[in-house]
Amino acid sequence: MRIVPSGEILGARIEDVDLSAPLTDGEFRTVLRALGEHGVLCFPDQHIDVAAFAAFGRRFGTLEINVANMFHEPDFPEVMILSNMTRDGKPIGLGDAGQGWHTDMSYSREIALANILHAQRVPHRDGAPLGDTQFRNMHAAYDTLPQDLKRSLEGRTATHDFAKFWDMMRARPGSARPPLTEEQRRRKPPVSQPIFRIHPITGRRVLYANPGYTMRIDGMPQDESDAILDFLFAHQAEDRFLYAHHWTENDLLIWDNIGTTHNAVADYRADEPRYMRRVQVMATLDYAAMAA
Ligand code: OGA
Ligand code: MN
Repeated sequence: MRIVPSGEILGARIEDVDLSAPLTDGEFRTVLRALGEHGVLCFPDQHIDVAAFAAFGRRFGTLEINVANMFHEPDFPEVMILSNMTRDGKPIGLGDAGQGWHTDMSYSREIALANILHAQRVPHRDGAPLGDTQFRNMHAAYDTLPQDLKRSLEGRTATHDFAKFWDMMRARPGSARPPLTEEQRRRKPPVSQPIFRIHPITGRRVLYANPGYTMRIDGMPQDESDAILDFLFAHQAEDRFLYAHHWTENDLLIWDNIGTTHNAVADYRADEPRYMRRVQVMATLDYAAMAA
């Protein structure tokens, strides 16, 4: 197994490994450490079935069955389908997943360690791949905040709400998303999260606030909260924190959902098919101990 860092603010390729067989404990520790260090890991050229994909994910923690899980692989409710493709005129996957900067599961009391995508179909135009997934480095975003802001926000929390992103997407012209049901709202009520948290793998602080789900800073007047969140979102949006993954079919990509935010670039058309399998790994294990 070979780790090839991108040389950019995030990202590495993990080469010479076949994920159809389980990683050894030593390999797993290497991958876990690399996930903390590089944030986004690409395992190219992986030809594995849905079961092996889910098993790989389960190594990192419990797999979430998403609250908005309308589309999943047969017999695998934890393997969601992200796609713009249709069968008999009906969508076969969630067509607009992640199109806006966010962090998966920050709206959940139990947060996510990672997401894993396995690219089945990647749209292309003129030989170039479309539908990049972009990431931002929240270790670096924290490190470069003004000292006085770090001090004043230390120990504070902010409220995150699943409905923020959902309703933002629903408001787009032509959105296929139905309104959230009472049941979905009840399963994912708004939750408070620390604005800065210690990353379980790196042991360093990260900025854990994202424009997709973070609503307001708790215990602060609305206007003050709005101003600080605007500042935090503008700060993390600086180009120096940005990394883009350009997809190749059979890429298996795992990213850190604590130390990065991400965005799906919607630059492809309905007749340019994209199909991703996805699992969301909840942060249910003692990663500090596992990475040690
Ligand atoms: C996700 C997501 C990005 C993409 O899976 O959480 O945001 O590029 N997807 O499909
Ligand atoms: Mn996402």
